[in-house]
Amino acid sequence: MTTTQTEHTTISPHGGELVIRELTGSQREGYLNKADSLKSLTLNAWSLSDLELIAIGGFSPLSGFMGKADYNRVVEEMRLKDGTVWSIPITLHVTQEQADEYEIGSEIALVGDDDVVYGVLELEEKYTYDKEKEARHVYGTTDEAHPGVKNVFNKGEVHLAGPIYLINRPSHGEFEDFYFDPSQTRKIFSDLGWNTVVGFQTRNPVHRAHEYIQKCALEAVDGLLLNPLVGETKSDDIPADIRMESYQVILNHYYPADRTRLVIYPAAMRYAGPKEAILHAIVRKNYGCTHFIVGRDHAGVGDYYGTYEAQDFIAKFERELGIQVFKFEHAFYCTKCENMGTAKTCPHQKEDHVHLSGTKVREKLRNGEKPPKEFSRPEVAEVLIKGMRKK
Ligand code: ADX
Repeated sequence: MTTTQTEHTTISPHGGELVIRELTGSQREGYLNKADSLKSLTLNAWSLSDLELIAIGGFSPLSGFMGKADYNRVVEEMRLKDGTVWSIPITLHVTQEQADEYEIGSEIALVGDDDVVYGVLELEEKYTYDKEKEARHVYGTTDEAHPGVKNVFNKGEVHLAGPIYLINRPSHGEFEDFYFDPSQTRKIFSDLGWNTVVGFQTRNPVHRAHEYIQKCALEAVDGLLLNPLVGETKSDDIPADIRMESYQVILNHYYPADRTRLVIYPAAMRYAGPKEAILHAIVRKNYGCTHFIVGRDHAGVGDYYGTYEAQDFIAKFERELGIQVFKFEHAFYCTKCENMGTAKTCPHQKEDHVHLSGTKVREKLRNGEKPPKEFSRPEVAEVLIKGMRKK
């Protein structure tokens, strides 16, 4: 049921309270018994992660998959129907044929491909939508080479909407030790005495540039939440299991243990640049972060977004979001300064800066070659090379 959690950190969840949609005790038992008699829908990994994030409060104030009024306003105006800022639709899609099977007012058992019933949807609405419009407004392009846009065009043509309940939490396997829900992270921050916490989103291993901007931020706040996205990513991104090992290694060697926490963000990556920066900030606010880092080309892919487009965009909503955004320029190692820096702190030329593209780094790693230590900590490179070899 919807419950409100006691607050620990100094920042309120988005919309004012943490909306928890997880059933426990006899209510859960009741639904478990009933689930077999309900029509079911098998969720893919993406929708299952959305279900979980709604239920644990990561997507507060959402209480279910978006209905038409919320969906349209989010796409067109970046707001829920009540005016709350929300940048990316959270929807459950099916084919028209599937949609015809379910009656408005009925409950649908939401099942994983492992046949476990994870949740229930109270079906309030079924509606069609304009995919091209969603792509244009949310991703800024209708080019199907964009992985987020491709996903929009691959969706079923009907959205099923209504409140959800979570009955079983999806397993996070080997990441379970790093899984905490927003009410737990809020309590962790409070127990640690952290009043200010900076959240860091990433879908990559932590390189020196990431480390530099995290540590610059850490100079100004009490703690760092390293919060890597471990849900679906595009196939050429480094797999989450390898990344998780690399995060532990870099934290152990180079970060103060009492000022950092590693917690997974179990969402799918949209690659929506500016719009996703806002979603990322909202979720971290729900996890209890008071600050959030947006660096160069946040959540970008290819050349679809300008280097600082996400920063300029989020700046317009910062006051309303309530989370403070640390915006960092492109960071690099400068061979003349013998230091990390940005154009704000380094007077030297591009030729003096160590620069490697993601593609180049992956190529090196695949060949068993360590990128320069100015780019990646050797301990991290070692984990990545070993991991890539195994795959
Ligand atoms: S993503 O999730 O935003 O796509 P990525 O790992 O590429 O993940 O970046 C994580 C964060 O670090 C983002 O805020 C991004 O803008 C920032 N970032 C990455 N590389 C740099 C860099 N060289 N300089 C400054 N910020 C960076």
